[in-house]
Amino acid sequence: MKDLFAKIYRDKGPLGKWADQAEGYFVFPKLEGQISNRMKFQGREVITWSINDYLGLANNPEVRKADEEAVKKWGSAYPMGARMMSGHTELHEQLQNELAEFVSKESAYVLNFGYQGILSTIDALVGKNDVIVYDVDAHACIIDGVRLHLGKRFTYKHNDLDSIELNLARAEKIAEQTGGGVLFISEGVFGMRGEQGKLKEIVELKKKYNFRLLVDDAHGFGTLGKTGAGAGEEQGVQDQIDVYFATFAKSMASTGAFIAADKEIIDYLKYNLRSQMFAKSLQMSLVEGALKRLELLRRSTDFKDKLWENVNALQNGLKDNGFDIGTTTSCVTPVYLKGSIPEAMALVKDLRENHGIFCSIVVYPVIPKGLILLRMIPTATHTMEDIDLTLKAFSAIRERLENGTYKKLSQALMEKMGE
Ligand SMILES: Cc1ncc(COP(=O)(O)O)c(C=O)c1O
Repeated sequence: MKDLFAKIYRDKGPLGKWADQAEGYFVFPKLEGQISNRMKFQGREVITWSINDYLGLANNPEVRKADEEAVKKWGSAYPMGARMMSGHTELHEQLQNELAEFVSKESAYVLNFGYQGILSTIDALVGKNDVIVYDVDAHACIIDGVRLHLGKRFTYKHNDLDSIELNLARAEKIAEQTGGGVLFISEGVFGMRGEQGKLKEIVELKKKYNFRLLVDDAHGFGTLGKTGAGAGEEQGVQDQIDVYFATFAKSMASTGAFIAADKEIIDYLKYNLRSQMFAKSLQMSLVEGALKRLELLRRSTDFKDKLWENVNALQNGLKDNGFDIGTTTSCVTPVYLKGSIPEAMALVKDLRENHGIFCSIVVYPVIPKGLILLRMIPTATHTMEDIDLTLKAFSAIRERLENGTYKKLSQALMEKMGE
């Protein structure tokens, strides 16, 4: 018999194996200073493109004041306990009512964390006779929710309508045999590539197939749609989304999340979401903070308008300079380059140290081998100067990538890793 830890000593996992070369720099980097378009990394100022503070609310003076006053009033413990036991308050209910109204649903339920919340939502919505259909590029929280499912599940090719229809037909056939139903899960915006889920086309398929639609709109809430109510509003199909989910971790610049649906569905979910029934409720300071953020979102679309001004300037600038930004239809801005992982490391070091640009780097196994994805999250706080400097830096690093500079720089690293 083996020691349980033997495999851990042998293999640290697909990302963990890079820890010696990457930790503290490429992964688990320590950004310092207040959340902003400019922060410090290893002592020098960098333009930050990897903070999900889309609307710039993290350091909005009204938001900061509300947060500070709420902590003063409630501390950070209140309320103790899970919602069902001793963690429920008038303010949680008020926030739910306001969120439901904002996303045009009958009812909403506030969650302590998005990840656990959506995982439990999936778990609570399906029984063993039901079938789940979901995108192959789904976020980890959806995958983990699906992992709990004891019945059949099918993945479809990312945002591919033929594959969607094929898998819906398969799912329906099985559900007819088992006597179950079908849960279809899409993201409002896919966070890596920035494509919106094809919600309009998916709801059209409701005419042909019998399924319920759950949408994770983590990146769409606050950034898309006329009022900022998300991808469903943007595509004119919010009323066809059966269960809508969004987190406070992005546009709302906070912690927590919510689901919204018909009252009967929310009433069921609040009694059946295990991660909420058996874990501490969202603390009051965060509930009050969320109410203030929502008030700002409702008051005007200025934050969203400024965000999109920056998104358009960045994305158009990149395209005009011949960069491949894929097929994004949201604020998420990917830049695809060709190169090995060691080349990607040398390139990002150059970007950070010589150009003062900090963005996330995504490589295999998250994307196919040989591709480098530099992922940028524009926010309302970025300036045109930030965008100009970034475009210039990107042109410089592309030239160095193409003329083999990074290959040379990364040679030693490649030898070390036996590539
Ligand atoms: C698509 C998506 N869903 C869910 C979550 C989880 O939300 P939270 O950070 O509130 O746990 C995230 C990350 O924040 C996300 O990107």
